[in-house]
This record gives sequence, C-alpha cells and structure tokens, in this order.
Amino acid sequence: MNQSIREVLTMRHGSNVELCGWVVTKNTVGALLFLTIRDGSGYFQVVGKKEVTDQQFLDNMKDVTIESAVRIKGQLMDDARAPGGKELTVKEIEIIAKAEKWPITKSAVKSSSFLYDFRHLSIRGKKSSSIMKIRSEFIKAAFDFFVEHDHIYINSPSIVQSAVEGGSTLFNIDYFGKNASLSQSAQLYEEAAICAFGKVFVMQPAFRAEKSKTSKHLTEFMMIEAEVAFNEQVDNMKLQEDFVNYVCERIVERRSEELEILGRKFTVPEKPFPKITYDEAREITIKNGINFEWGEDIPTEAERFLSKMFDKPFFIIDYPLSARSFYHMTKPNNTITLSADLIAPEGFGEIATGGQRIHDYNFLVERLKQYKLQTESFQWYVDLRKYGMPPHAGFGIGVERSIRWICNLKHIRTTSLFPRTITRIYP
Ligand code: 4AD
Ligand code: MG
Repeated sequence: MNQSIREVLTMRHGSNVELCGWVVTKNTVGALLFLTIRDGSGYFQVVGKKEVTDQQFLDNMKDVTIESAVRIKGQLMDDARAPGGKELTVKEIEIIAKAEKWPITKSAVKSSSFLYDFRHLSIRGKKSSSIMKIRSEFIKAAFDFFVEHDHIYINSPSIVQSAVEGGSTLFNIDYFGKNASLSQSAQLYEEAAICAFGKVFVMQPAFRAEKSKTSKHLTEFMMIEAEVAFNEQVDNMKLQEDFVNYVCERIVERRSEELEILGRKFTVPEKPFPKITYDEAREITIKNGINFEWGEDIPTEAERFLSKMFDKPFFIIDYPLSARSFYHMTKPNNTITLSADLIAPEGFGEIATGGQRIHDYNFLVERLKQYKLQTESFQWYVDLRKYGMPPHAGFGIGVERSIRWICNLKHIRTTSLFPRTITRIYP
C-alpha cells in the first residue's frame, strides 16, 4: 500500500516509502535527478542517485514527463535543504500513465478564458487546489455546525414548479410537456420540513438564469440554507453570526497553509456583527454620490461602497418589501420586511440573505394576490399555514460568494471547480 505525502512527512528518517502521484517539476543537478511529486495531500521532493537508483529507474526518471502519474519506492531521508526538511531517495520508479506535453504554458495562456477552456487540467495548480481545499473545509464545517445545533439535513427537488425568488432568473425547462424550472432556493421546501423536524438545513446547487456578466454571479452555485421553527428575525441573525464565525474559525485553524499559498491574511470575524438599516445605508451612499430610489434593491455599486467601509461582515436590516420576494414577514405597516442581507467586508458584498416568513394563512393569500402570483403552484405552500405553522425564519448563504471573500478572489468563477456562467458551459 502506498502512503500519502501527508503521512510520509510524519515518518522517520530511513523509513521505506511507496508514493503515488503526479510529476510537477523535473530538474538535473550534476549527477542527481530531482522530481517534485504531488498527490493531493501535499508536495514532495524525490531524488535519483547513481549509487542507489538502478540505471533502468534513472532512465525512467529521465523519460518521465510533467503531469505523468508515477509510483515511486524509496527511502526517506532528512535533508534540511529539501522543502519540508525531507526527501525520498528513489530505489524504483514506475511510470503508470505518461502525460503528453502539458498544454498550459506561460506562452500559451493569452487570456483567463484559455485557462477556463482547459479547466479540466488547470484545476491541478497549487492556487486552485488551495481554494478547493478551503471550500471543502467550509462545507465540512457548515455540516458540523448545523448538526451540532440539532438541525436535520434535508434535500429538496431541483426540478420545481414555483419560483421562490421571482421569474427574472428562472431557468425554464420542459417537463414532459409541462412547464417547470430549476430551483432557485430550497427555502419553500425547508418551510414544510421544519414542521417535521423543527430545525433543518440544506446544501445543494441552486440555479439562476443571471443575464448579466459580473464577477459575483454564477448560473449554478452551491447554497447552504437553514430554517428554524419558532425563530424570529433576531434569532435568525444570531444564527448567521454564529455560523459565519464558526466556519471562519475552522478555516483559519485547519487551512492556514492554503490561505498562505493564496497570500490571504484572513482573521476570524468576531461576534456580534454590526447592523445598519436600509435607510441608513441609502443615506450613506447618497452622501457619497451613489443615488438610488427608496424601495429599490441596493445597487451593486452602492453595496460595494458600503462593504468597503467595514472590516468584518455586517447586516443591512429593514429592507423595503418592494425589494423583496412575496414570502417576507413585514412590520405592522406592511412596507418594511423583517429581513436582512449579510454583507462581506472589503468590497465583496452580499454573501447571505435571510428573514422571517409569513406564517398566517390569510396574510399569505393576500400577499400572493398583491404580487400577482398564481396560487395554484403555491397551493401546498399556502396549505402549510392551515396546519400549525408557527413564526419561523431562515437564511441562505452562497458557498462561492463566501469563498471568494475568505480567499480574497477577484472573480467568483475561481471558487468553482467547473463554473457555470452566462458564457460558459464547457468543460
Ligand atoms: O439572496 P438569495 O436570492 O436568497 C434566497 O434565495 C433565499 N430564498 C434564501 C433563504 O432565505 N433560504 O440567495 C442567497 C445567497 C445570496 O446571498 C448569495 O450568496 C447566493 O445565494 N447567490 C448567488 N451566488 C452566486 N451566483 C448567483 N447568481 C447567486 N444568487 C444568489
Ligand atoms: Mg439576496
């Protein structure tokens, strides 16, 4: 059985080791042949020496090409000059799958779209691997957080009939002659599930037919959503604070090496997070020359301006109903919602939206009329309000938006292994 590089780094000088991985670099220094091997768990230097390595295996080392898959047997040596303080003296090397000439070279890369055309290969790079490891840690931490808080993990269908977040970003599909669409959010199904489980959470892809090309929109992204029976909006914001603090702490604790590779100095945001109202946010941006009508959603430019004012995430609370979906619970005047956006600092902008939902039957029926939404496709959702629906609240946080902030990345597509954007469906 072969050992992972991570395991090898903990082994003693003189140990016999078998490593499997891919060749990253190849160099000759005098009579010595050096390879750097990568296996997903780390990078490791191996060295071929005339006195130890058979000629046949030295020839293999000379023949091997970058990104070939190899199996190496050898002896572990402490060597202060080697990266990580250890290297492997090769006794045998087998070329398991020889790679053709690597197409991603400095001269070949003329644009970032080239790298995405070759995304099936470019994901092997050190930076993109680090981002994906941080993403994996984020998802694992999210799972742990909700399980520790007694939430039950559920899934909801991705093929649906009712639009949660409005018709403008719906991907319509033909479902055996019926109109259907891809799910924008699992929220409505979570609301049914809380009456069975009390607290639930979901992690699954969400789909938005975003029509504009931006650095923060994907057409398919991963959303983590949570919904809790008997929670009000204050509890909901507290839950988001706890969640973000928990996952960030985990990443800093377990993925500091990857953050360093990305050159990101990231500190865990301390609780509580600041809160400003929509009106205060609007006042600030207007004073700084970014105007928008009261009742509109906060435009990207204004959101970016506000986001740059803070050095940790903050909530924008009290959104007008006119900027929100039908299901939002409102204050008694029926114009201000009990909802908030969670905004990441440093210009990254919105990472989560959450709020309290309407739990009263008649109120919801009225609201659907106000929004001119057909009640038939929402009948089951309305129906829930007849059978013991308490006040409840929840939120959805975008994984890619969060990773973009945590890793300090220009474009959201970098956070997705095979991103889907308005202009990209290949590979
Ligand atoms: O703000 P959104 O649209 O809220 C909802 O869908 C609610 N139903 C969630 C809930 O309360 N259960 O989406 C939630 C989050 C956003 O804050 C953002 O992080 C992410 O999902 N998101 C996107 N991420 C990447 N690309 C897109 N096109 C996104 N649209 C939303
Ligand atoms: Mg939102």
